[in-house]
Amino acid sequence: MRTAKSEIITHSPEDTRELAKELASNLKPPKLIALFGELGAGKTTFVQGFAEYFGIKTVRSPSFTLINEYKNSVKIYHVDLYRIEDAGELYPAGFFDLIQDKNAFVLVEWPEKIQDVVKFDVMVYIFHLDELSRKIKFQFI
Ligand SMILES: Nc1ncnc2c1ncn2[C@@H]1O[C@H](COP(=O)(O)OP(=O)(O)OP(=O)(O)O)[C@@H](O)[C@H]1O
Ligand SMILES: [Mg+2]
Repeated sequence: MRTAKSEIITHSPEDTRELAKELASNLKPPKLIALFGELGAGKTTFVQGFAEYFGIKTVRSPSFTLINEYKNSVKIYHVDLYRIEDAGELYPAGFFDLIQDKNAFVLVEWPEKIQDVVKFDVMVYIFHLDELSRKIKFQFI
């Protein structure tokens, strides 16, 4: 399993999606997954691959919607916290209810905004190396 290694270099968006599928194939819900990485690092690309493993091919960035929900054999909540200033803003959006959902994977972009108030099960760190290369590290709590 590549995700058990300390770090992997991907060389294309497709490569990152494949790696995310590998992670998906090794996890059972519920899981709260943090995706760290700067703007354009590949966090949404990673979620696309993760969801594709469960037959979901329609993942788009939730930058404006805050939370996107997908359902197939599992539920996937894709959360983008870029625009929030305070974890309190997540109560009306239902975030703290959905992280209790036993059938769901919750993948969070910009997790540093809520790291003090929730406990993530898996941390994914994506580093931009050059135009098509990313270094990806996994940490399982
Ligand atoms: N190896 C790679 N892995 C992932 N994405 C890559 C890679 N090489 C190039 N890219 C490109 O980098 C961009 C990553 O965009 P993406 O929306 O996934 O980033 P993001 O981290 O979600 O950004 P944001 O913080 O704006 O939401 C895409 O245009 C993708 O095609
Ligand atoms: Mg994104």
